[in-house]
Amino acid sequence: MTEHHRRIMDVLNGKTLTPPPIWLMRQAGRYLPEYREVRAKAGSFLDLCYTPEFAVEVTLQPIRRYGFDAAILFSDILVIPDALGRNVTFTEGHGPQMTPIDAEGIANLTRENVLSHLQPVFETVRRLRQELPGGTTLLGFCGAPWTVATYMIAGHGTPDQAPARLFAYRYPEAFDRLLAILAEISADYLVEQIDAGADAVQIFDSWAGVLGEEEFARYCVAPVQRMIASVRSRRPQARIIAFAKGAGYLLKDYRQGTGADAIGLDWSVPLGFAAELQKDGPVQGNLDPMRVVAGGAALDEGIDRIMNALGQGPLIFNLGHGITPQADPEHVTALVKRVRGTSHG
Ligand code: CP3
Repeated sequence: MTEHHRRIMDVLNGKTLTPPPIWLMRQAGRYLPEYREVRAKAGSFLDLCYTPEFAVEVTLQPIRRYGFDAAILFSDILVIPDALGRNVTFTEGHGPQMTPIDAEGIANLTRENVLSHLQPVFETVRRLRQELPGGTTLLGFCGAPWTVATYMIAGHGTPDQAPARLFAYRYPEAFDRLLAILAEISADYLVEQIDAGADAVQIFDSWAGVLGEEEFARYCVAPVQRMIASVRSRRPQARIIAFAKGAGYLLKDYRQGTGADAIGLDWSVPLGFAAELQKDGPVQGNLDPMRVVAGGAALDEGIDRIMNALGQGPLIFNLGHGITPQADPEHVTALVKRVRGTSHG
């Protein structure tokens, strides 16, 4: 094996590796003191995302510290609404905010200027591919149409996405148009990331779990399926991970329904069910991020359970959602060590 061998790409191609490769969602973030330092220098959060020098630096920080098998482009799923002119801001303690969109605003959305607005992101990807160690997979990403739409409609985060669910029932045509536009733009955005040097991409549907069965099929599966088909028609070699948080039993047909190569699992997915899903292909996950805050036995037991249940099949070790600001960087060191040190079977 050469030093340019990318282990995550092997798993995405269906191989079982022992130990499994590992990266963590939100691995660049506030739990790292070196991130907080760059974040303070950058000005606003979006300035950090749009300044390649800073975005490259924070992407590389967790790679230097932990030697993860993948680096994930530092950006945010909400750069798409920002590029659509929705005035996205991030304020400390309030999370993201933007101008809420209505049916008229949806009718007036245009794809013009979206990709030019996102040029700094592609520049970040190009620089990262140059600077990363050869064996490190570079992941691009975007939000899934449903999850991005929830923020566009409410104008901010909500606990249950009631505004978007209500909007979809009241204005089904406008809502379908919003999802269709987001799916098209996001597919183009992923193709550009791949062309700039991303080895694989992840689609984040973080709010899949608030939908009923019928709505999950229409708002999550169908648009993501169209996005993946669009990316693959242009870049047949593209490898794609789809993460539908909270989808539970509905994950049963999610891989087949979307055409994703690998599916991400949140920590509520039972490991027995996860092992069944793994029979159809690679899975990624699914340690509770709170175990990384707790450390010690809670961390070790959580890791061992996942390794025992999923370590004999194609697995990318990850958390079940993003690492939180409260996580102790030393606990992450212990996590990586345990995943890499166990299961030499
Ligand atoms: O994983 C990585 O390290 C890459 C970077 C990344 C960020 N956001 C950086 C970020 C990725 C992949 C995301 C995805 C994202 N953004 C999602 C999907 C995944 C998920 O976590 O559910 C969502 C829903 C968002 C939207 C978003 N961005 C919210 C709701 C917030 C505020 C909440 C918070 O944690 O503060 C953000 C801000 C954000 N995105 C931060 C980071 C590091 C923290 C802001 C800061 O540093 O000031």
